[in-house]
Parts: sequence; structure tokens; C-alpha cells
Amino acid sequence: MSQSNSEYVNPLRDPQDRRLPRIAGPCGLVLFGVTGDLSRKKIMPAIYDLANRGLLPPGFSLVGFARRDWADQDFAQVVHDSVKAYARTEFREEVWKQLAEGFRFVPGNFDDDVAFDQLRRTIQELDEVRGTDGNHAFYLAIPPGFFGTVVDQLKEHGLADGGADSWRRVVVEKPFGHDLESARELNGILAGVFESGSIFRIDHYLGKETVQNILAMRFANTMFEPIWNSNYVDHVQITMAEDGGIGGRAGYYDGIGAARDVIQNHLLQLMSLVAMEEPTSFDAESLRIEKQKVLSSVVLPRRLDLTTARAQYAEGWAGGEKVAGFLEEEGIAKSSTTETYAAVTLNIATRRWAGVPFYLRTGKRLGRRVTEVAVVFKKAPHQPFSASSTEDLTQNALVIRIQPDEGVTLRFGSKVPGTAMEIRDVNMDFAYGGSFTESSPEAYERLILDVLLGDPPLFPRHEEVELSWKILDPILEHWAKQDAAGKGKPDEYESGTWGPPSADAMLARDGRVWRRP
Ligand code: BG6
Repeated sequence: MSQSNSEYVNPLRDPQDRRLPRIAGPCGLVLFGVTGDLSRKKIMPAIYDLANRGLLPPGFSLVGFARRDWADQDFAQVVHDSVKAYARTEFREEVWKQLAEGFRFVPGNFDDDVAFDQLRRTIQELDEVRGTDGNHAFYLAIPPGFFGTVVDQLKEHGLADGGADSWRRVVVEKPFGHDLESARELNGILAGVFESGSIFRIDHYLGKETVQNILAMRFANTMFEPIWNSNYVDHVQITMAEDGGIGGRAGYYDGIGAARDVIQNHLLQLMSLVAMEEPTSFDAESLRIEKQKVLSSVVLPRRLDLTTARAQYAEGWAGGEKVAGFLEEEGIAKSSTTETYAAVTLNIATRRWAGVPFYLRTGKRLGRRVTEVAVVFKKAPHQPFSASSTEDLTQNALVIRIQPDEGVTLRFGSKVPGTAMEIRDVNMDFAYGGSFTESSPEAYERLILDVLLGDPPLFPRHEEVELSWKILDPILEHWAKQDAAGKGKPDEYESGTWGPPSADAMLARDGRVWRRP
């Protein structure tokens, strides 16, 4: 070790050491919406995984609230089934037993005063017998139409304020409104009861390791930042493709569509991380300032008819099986104009990004499930090779593979071995699996732990949410106007392909092509 003894800081004694596990203090979580898919597939398993990793306090409690005639044991059985089916880490009986001792269930409607009184008594009982010390987070995994009722009830029944020595927090899931106006309304409702530091908005993409790594990659290294600008970057493509259809979510998805479901939140957050300036630190405030600067610098092209694309999946193939088109899905009206694919062109009016389009696309029932950010570089200003030598050479690209094959690929030209000078694209690869032995935690594990720790950097603030709607609203209005005038409707793409021809045409007009991930 090169450090002298006096300089050496024992990491076990250094409270700032990031390698030490961050363990939540005494607390509990109240879950509204326990019967929903999100609770079953993501939230409950994540809570177990956190317990299994030793990151929850020993007396942690989980209270389920729903309109079901359940006793505590019934609720425990539901959590048990979900953990068995979806948890990331192995099932350990002793961990489960200790966790399940803190489970309680409160039956009732959201507007039922008796039920909220019972919730208050339940929490008091847990504070006494489990030592949760008055610290509770209320997780609203419910449709946003009920947020107002629930937060009002929490306030009315004295649940929203923990007093001087304990905390109360609220966790909300998207959609945070369906346009700027409704987002403001929603923010107003939450802000009327909880102070801004106690409101945690989940954008689960920010909880993904590979998304957090964008900042590490950009700002912990020297070699990327000098070329991360309009002098070198030609354009950026952000893709979130899914091979699945809407599944059983017709009720949620119809009328929402791909742009509201994914671009407004996940993809604009990704874009902010890729485009932002270096923050002064990684605390929530500094990050938010930089992300907000990006979002407020976005300008839309003038011709939205030429620079956006939307479409619905038609029947086709997925995973070797014939699948139905969107309009044939159960619960979707034949006349629905909801898009299942959306692509948009955004410009960022800053010195760094002037003239560099950011193309964002997302869709259901595409060729494969993949999310990636591709920074595509300009061609070398001069090629001292014959044109035929570089025929197969495309543009250099840095591809951040968010999922499922997590890693980073650098694409550049290389000489093909042989007597001729022939240059072709090659890839240099970093794969998480090859470099790290530990597997990445699920996004929800990280985010739920951060809520319990009161650590806000990975949660978008309401200003970011509103700025994102400001970007999207004109595009949504443009599409709605087309529908109303009968001038246009979403295009179609065959399930299992890479989207509609209109999206290809959108890039072709700029002399570019989409990557085929
Ligand atoms: C959600 C969307 O936010 O993200 C879903 O509402 C989508 O429509 C999901 O399927 C995808 O998440 P992930 O983590 O599987 O990419």
C-alpha cells in the first residue's frame, strides 16, 4: 500500500465510505394497491430481496391496504407467493419468518374513515411492538385518480405528519399526470399535504445500475467528455424496445400510449443524463439543476409531421408465436388511436449540443427487448484511404447497453487482416457479467431503500416532471389534431419488426438510419 499509516483511513470507520452497506433505520412501509401487478411483480419481491441482503431494519413492517376481506395471514400469503415467483435472491425461511412478523393488513376503501383510523392504530401498534419509531412511508401503487383521496385521508387521520422526531414520506408511481396541466394539479395535491423533500416520485429507470453508470462513465473518466459535444457527436439515438404487447394492461394503456408511458419519463430522464453538464456534486439538488437545464433547453423541430412518428402494432410474431394486433387486444376499442410506438426528434439548444439531434423511440411488440443509448460520432474529416477501402465502414459509436445485455460497446473501424487495405467496423465490449462478480440489484430494491433512507438523488422532482410535459405536450397535441381532423392516424407495423416505415423515413430525411440493436 502506497499510503503511509497516518494517511490510511480504515474504510470500516469512515462514515462516508460508499462501500459500506447503507442500511435503513427503524421504519415501515404502507402499501396501497397490494393487488396490482406492480406490487406483486416488483415491490413485494424487492422488499424481500432487501431483507435478504440485510438492508432492512430488524423490526421493519409492511402494511397492506386494499378493498379485500383479508386477515394478516391472507396478506402474508399474497406476499409469499409474489416473493416465491419474482424475488431475485434465494428464498431463506429464516429471513422470510422475521420479515413476515411485521406484516399487517387493513381492509377498506380509500374514502373509508374507519379504515384509515384502523391504519393509524396499526401503525401505532407497530411502533410499539416492532420499534418502527413513527417512521413510515406510504407507497401509492394505485391509479393516480386516487392520489388526492388517499393523501387527503392521510392528512385527515393524522398520518401524514410524523412530528419532530420521526418521518412520514409518500411514494408515487407514474403517470404523473397526462399533460402539463394535470401534472401541475397532481403536484399541487401532493404538495398540499407533504413537503417536497418527503415526496418520492418513482422513475424506475433511474434505479437501474446501467443508468446510474452513465454519470460514472462520463464524469469519472477523461476520455469521453472531450468528445461529448457537437464537434464530434453527429446524433444520439435512445431506444427502448419491448417485444411484449400491452398484456393485461388495456385499461391503463389505452388513451395513454407509448409517448406518455415511456418517453415523458424514462427516455427524457435518460436523455438528461446523457446531455447534462457535470454536476457540482451528486446530491439531489445539484443533479436536478443540471437535468432541469437540459430539459428546459429542448426545442422541438418546426415540422412535427416530419420529425415524429407514431404507430400501432399489427398482428405478427413474438417469440415464435403468432400474436394479435393492438386493435384486436382485449379491452381495446377498434377505433383506438393510442400509439404503441413513438419516435421523436429533439434538439437541445446549448453550445454543447447545437445541431445534434436526439432521436428517442420506444415501442411494444418490436423485434427484441432492448434499451440502449447510442452516441453516434461524425465521420473522420478526412480519409487517407481509397473509397473502396472504407466502403463497409460506418460511423463510430458508443453504445450504452442499458438492458438486457448490460454493458458498453465502442464501435470503430479496423483493418481487415490481409494484403489489401480494407477497413471494417469492429466492436470493443465491456459486459457487466465479465467485469463484476456481483449481480445488479433490481431497480426497485435500490429505490425503495433510498425512500427508507430519505435519499432523493434518484427521484425526479416536480420541476423535471413539468418540464418533460412541456416538451411532450405539443407533440401530443399535434397528433390529437391530426386525429380530430381525420388527417392522420397511427401507422401500423407488423409485430416482431422494428417499427413503422414512417419512423425510418423520419431519420432518412436527415440522412441517417436507426440502429438495429
Ligand atoms: C413501465 C411502462 O414504466 O416500464 C411499461 O409503464 C413498460 O409499459 C415498463 O413495459 C418497462 O420496464 P423495464 O424495466 O422492463 O424496461
